[in-house]
Formats: sequence, C-alpha cells, structure tokens
Amino acid sequence: IKRVAVLTSGGDAPGMNAAIRAVVRAAASQGIEVVGVRRGFSGLHRGEMHLLGPRDVANTIQRGGTILLTARSRTWRTPEGRAEGARYLREWGVGGLIVIGGDGSFHGGYHLQEEHGIPVIGVPGTIDNDLYGTDHTIGYFTAVETALDAVDKLRDTGASHERIFVIEVMGRHAGHIALDVAVAGGAEEVFIPEDEKPIESVVEIVKQSVEKGKKGSIIIVAEGYDGGAQAVGDAIQAGTGLETRVSILGHIQRGGSPVSSDRILASRLGEAAVYALMDGQKGVMVGRTSGGITYTPLPETWQNSKDVSHDLYRCARVLSI
Ligand code: F6P
Repeated sequence: IKRVAVLTSGGDAPGMNAAIRAVVRAAASQGIEVVGVRRGFSGLHRGEMHLLGPRDVANTIQRGGTILLTARSRTWRTPEGRAEGARYLREWGVGGLIVIGGDGSFHGGYHLQEEHGIPVIGVPGTIDNDLYGTDHTIGYFTAVETALDAVDKLRDTGASHERIFVIEVMGRHAGHIALDVAVAGGAEEVFIPEDEKPIESVVEIVKQSVEKGKKGSIIIVAEGYDGGAQAVGDAIQAGTGLETRVSILGHIQRGGSPVSSDRILASRLGEAAVYALMDGQKGVMVGRTSGGITYTPLPETWQNSKDVSHDLYRCARVLSI
C-alpha cells in the first residue's frame, strides 16, 4: 500500500485532529503517503483532496474541531454519490480509506467498501461514546469535562437561589455523558434513553429531596431521553411548584482543546488504523478495549448496542441520599 486517504465525518469531536496527525505521521514512518479529504464524504464525492505531510499536521494535537472539516452528506447515501467518491480515490491511487467518525460515517465507509472494493478502516470519533467495540470514543472525555464544568457553574447559581436546575447534556441515543456527569457533578437524579423511566417519577424524587432538607438540586438529562430536559423541568414545575430552571448545554460540549485522554486515545487509534490497512485488514473499526487495540467489523459497531455502566447508574442513586 503506497497511499491512504483520511477524512473526518459527522459531528466533530475534540481529538479528531490528534487522530489525523497520528494517521499522517504513522503512515509517513512507513513510507506511505496520506491524502486528506476535506468535508467528509461530502467533499469526497466532489474530489476535495490534497496530500498531507507530517509538517502539515504540526501544531494541531491540541486543537479542537477538525482541520479537515466535516459534514453530514446526503449525496453519499446514494450509490451515484459513492461511485463518484470511489472514482476520485482511484484517480489519486489510494489503497485504503480511514474514516474518523461515528456510526453514520461508518455506514458510509462500509457501503463504499462493499460496492467498490476500497478497504475502509473506522476510527471511533464522537462525543457520544455510543460505538460498540471500544471502551471509549475520541472526544468523549473532553465532552464530559466541558459539561461538568458547566454543571459546576450552574450549581453555584442554583445553590445561591435554592433552585432546581435541570441540565441537558448531549447524547443523541446514549446516556454515557449524562451518567458520568451525574456522578462527577453530584446530581440528584439522571434521566437516560437506555432506561426510559416515567417522567412523573421526577416529581416524587424532588419532593423527597426537599424532605431530606435539600434546598436546591441538579438533575441531569441526556438529550436522547424522551422530551429532553424541558419536559423534565416542566414536570417538576407543575408537580411541585418549586422554582426550576432548564439549561441545555448543546454544542459547547463539542468544542475545546482535547484533554490528555482523548489525545492519547486518538494517537493510538490513528496509528493502529494505518497498521491495520498495511496488514490487509478492511471493514473494521480500530478500538481500545481494556488497554489493548481491538478490531471490530464495522456493522457490529452499530448493530450491537454498547451498554451504559449500570454500576454507575446505581452509584449515582446511592450517593444522592
Ligand atoms: O453525535 C454527536 C452529537 O453531538 C450528538 O450528541 C448530537 O445529538 C448531535 O451530534 C448533534 O448534531 P448536529 O451537530 O448535526 O446538530
């Protein structure tokens, strides 16, 4: 293999640049050239590509976002769009594609491989941590820190006013960020999509916390929980009459300089993705499980669900006594 291509796709995640850097430099160490594709699959079917050398990724390991830009592409969902992309990859003499992104991006890469025979390796990059086959995804650790920082700040104002704060964190279908933030932020309760408990239950929880002498409370809601934080906040206000505020943290959780765990994970996985292509692997995601590098067939990463830590869920409850 003489040349590989790399792209970032779907929602950006802190640490994607560290992963691109690792791909470029690991490849260079093996005498392999790297073609950077801009704007994910959207750019691939338009041929937005250029060579990336080791010096081009200098001063990027600490930067949030993605220097290659990203997009969610509609055209890529069509066989015609993918055929265009495959044509460009062939023109550039690319022998394998590394896709840094989440499950939607892996779908896109998998179809390309199936239809056009171009080997694809996935690198898990999403703040949601919702991919089966890796303990953590690139960006997750930073997103948790960013959300936690916001929760701590909201706690200051919430405690001063003796209010209930309902805080929504990201996680389209997953409660991983919510659970971590709930435990680390000392939340009263946490609502996640993996356990759709009835929204009314929050009224009893808040009433009990008041009876225990708590003046204010933090309640964490994952975006994917039905109705989100607004519905939970409305239920509290209606059911208890207590002064409640809702705060939706949103895209701030996707930005910022990656924390060390994300940089290290990205560096290891970017390097592993290059070696995987050299070994003739294809259609797998490189992941990190119990400290070791693992290879999971791409369809399994989205077909098998990654469970949240039930132990953490239990712990959050116990500690809010
Ligand atoms: O997948 C990452 C994520 O940040 C989810 O948590 C969120 O639901 C979604 O992306 C938001 O997507 P967009 O940036 O397209 O609004």
